[in-house]
Amino acid sequence: MSDRRKILVTSALPYANGDIHLGHLVEYIQTDIWVRFQKLRGHDCTYVCADDAHGTAIMLKAEQLGISPEEQIARVQADHERDFADFLVNFDNFHSTHAEENRELTCDIYKRLKANDHIASRTITQAFDSEKNLFLADRYIKGTCPKCKADDQYGDNCEVCSATYSPTELINPKSVISGSTPIEKDSEHFFFRLPEFQEFLQNWTRAGHLQPEVANKLAEWLSSGLKEWDISRDAPYFGFEIPDAPGKFFYVWLDAPIGYMASYKNFCERKGLDWLEAWKKDSDFELHHFIGKDIVNFHALFWPAVLSSANYRTPTKVCVHGFLTVNGKKMSKSRGTFINARTYLNHLQPEYLRYYFAAKLSASVDDLDLNLEDFIQRVNSDLVGKVVNIASRTAKFISKNGGELSNTIADEALWQRFVDAGETIAELYETREFAKAQREIMALADGANEYIAEKAPWSLAKEEGREQEVQDICTLGINMFRALLTYLKPVLPLTAEKAEAFLGETLSWSEPISFRGGESINKFKPLMTRIEADKVAAIVSDSQEALAEAQTSNISQADSGPLNDEPIADEINFDDFAKVDLRIALIAKAQHVDGAKKLLQLTLDLGGETRTVFSGIKSAYQPEDLEGKLTVMVANLAPRKMKFGLSEGMVLAAGPGKDEIYLLEPHAGAKPGQRVM
Ligand code: 2FM
Ligand code: ZN
Repeated sequence: MSDRRKILVTSALPYANGDIHLGHLVEYIQTDIWVRFQKLRGHDCTYVCADDAHGTAIMLKAEQLGISPEEQIARVQADHERDFADFLVNFDNFHSTHAEENRELTCDIYKRLKANDHIASRTITQAFDSEKNLFLADRYIKGTCPKCKADDQYGDNCEVCSATYSPTELINPKSVISGSTPIEKDSEHFFFRLPEFQEFLQNWTRAGHLQPEVANKLAEWLSSGLKEWDISRDAPYFGFEIPDAPGKFFYVWLDAPIGYMASYKNFCERKGLDWLEAWKKDSDFELHHFIGKDIVNFHALFWPAVLSSANYRTPTKVCVHGFLTVNGKKMSKSRGTFINARTYLNHLQPEYLRYYFAAKLSASVDDLDLNLEDFIQRVNSDLVGKVVNIASRTAKFISKNGGELSNTIADEALWQRFVDAGETIAELYETREFAKAQREIMALADGANEYIAEKAPWSLAKEEGREQEVQDICTLGINMFRALLTYLKPVLPLTAEKAEAFLGETLSWSEPISFRGGESINKFKPLMTRIEADKVAAIVSDSQEALAEAQTSNISQADSGPLNDEPIADEINFDDFAKVDLRIALIAKAQHVDGAKKLLQLTLDLGGETRTVFSGIKSAYQPEDLEGKLTVMVANLAPRKMKFGLSEGMVLAAGPGKDEIYLLEPHAGAKPGQRVM
């Protein structure tokens, strides 16, 4: 085994304005498995992360909620940390970019860049929202595409015809924030002189720090020439103010990667370690950043250049993964495949997903598909059917014979196969070929099961005088199980812990695995149960329900506060409006729905036709108070399949949500079924 390596590992910092979802988890699970593997092999490995707390989006989100940005990021951080912990993502430190260490490091790095003449300043012209007094990034401007004339397109590209343009070219541009027409305004910005690093980056990107396909992509960008990178933003902005430049703030993407350093510094200060050891030039620490393919330029161009100018070490590896698809498609709220971490955890334990991701992850940047059918089938057949089964089929005979393992290796060649595979599997984990590692492990499990089936200790146990043979066979069975659980420990830490309690030992992998005999083990308890298909169906329908509740009656997510300052939507013409068939509906019946936290089931009479509608108004109404009342419904909305049944339309209501929801009711005299215009 090689020398003890010092390794610092990071995952990308999640933005502090939204929930963790399964798409995020691909990366955190991938990184966590790699880190757990390194620790299990005896290396000194530290895993740090933080919330990415700065930027306009977070500032606006807090404003929308009527809270301070500090309160917003504290709330989100608490949720993030809970989600990660429950998915067994074991950070050594989870910090925030809005922290003193990060302010100091960012200001200091900026001073170093400036001292090296790597900062330029010049005046630029940008779109400005004069109602909100805010410069507008391209995604905060919408208008009509100059090319195909599609309405409602963002300021930099058209989702309909894929044209790219500048926001000044948009027809009838509007600020997404206030709805006002943006004006153009000048302001001074600071730029990092990235082009000065052209040669450095040409070498660095080809020096083994990146996957080949990533290096090739970067070569394309590098050959077309690098541009200076705008690292400042004008107030109002939630971030760090730039020293000696009042009213100017560091752009979130400057201080975000510095957040890796800050989180590690915070960790070291708590542990009495020297953080600089890992970050100084020529450090003997390895530094591995795990990221998604959308943020490669920040990590493989800007970040190494900034570090190098500021006289710090650069990353050993930037490990890039692809995106998650579900059932072969982009995650979708309407299909119920945009699944939050918490929604999953409400129904299933985390190791099923950890194993499934491991069984699909490679070192490439290819997207990874979570096929929900295959997920159930794969986890049940591999983990429950193959691995856990080995212990449950053999442990009972050991405990019958006094609970002690024998000293004989019943099949030397088979055992040697388990020992030798350890190095192959370790190499696959090391190189992030997790799917191949899981395949090797499952091939071993197949071998173990074939051996046990062939020897059939349950039959031998019935024969007189064959106790020792049974003991030897089952001892090998338990040892093969020990090896499998050791190799799976980075992926299944909870199950490994349960197995350790049963075996009465800590499974370690710093040396090749050794045979254990002559000692007693504890009584076997089932380690894992099968995934039931209805749990997966419930996750999907809850994900749809969350959306349906958010959409019901235009009430946005229950936590999104008053909508009074929500801008009026883009103008539509009369024909657009006339497509929506609004009808007076009589609430004939209203009832609670078993298992639904927010929904009531309404039976609506449209004057002859009856509809069932599930509506997220339970927090504000008692069913009996609704019966006999008239309301307004969208009668031609496509029916939506929900966990509790088919919802055939939508009733209209106003209000911020929670217990403030107000169903619309017509003046007296209106009749069920009448069209509302
Ligand atoms: O893309 C994102 O979600 C960013 N919040 C990632 C930041 S990673 C690092 F550079 F801080
Ligand atoms: Zn277009």
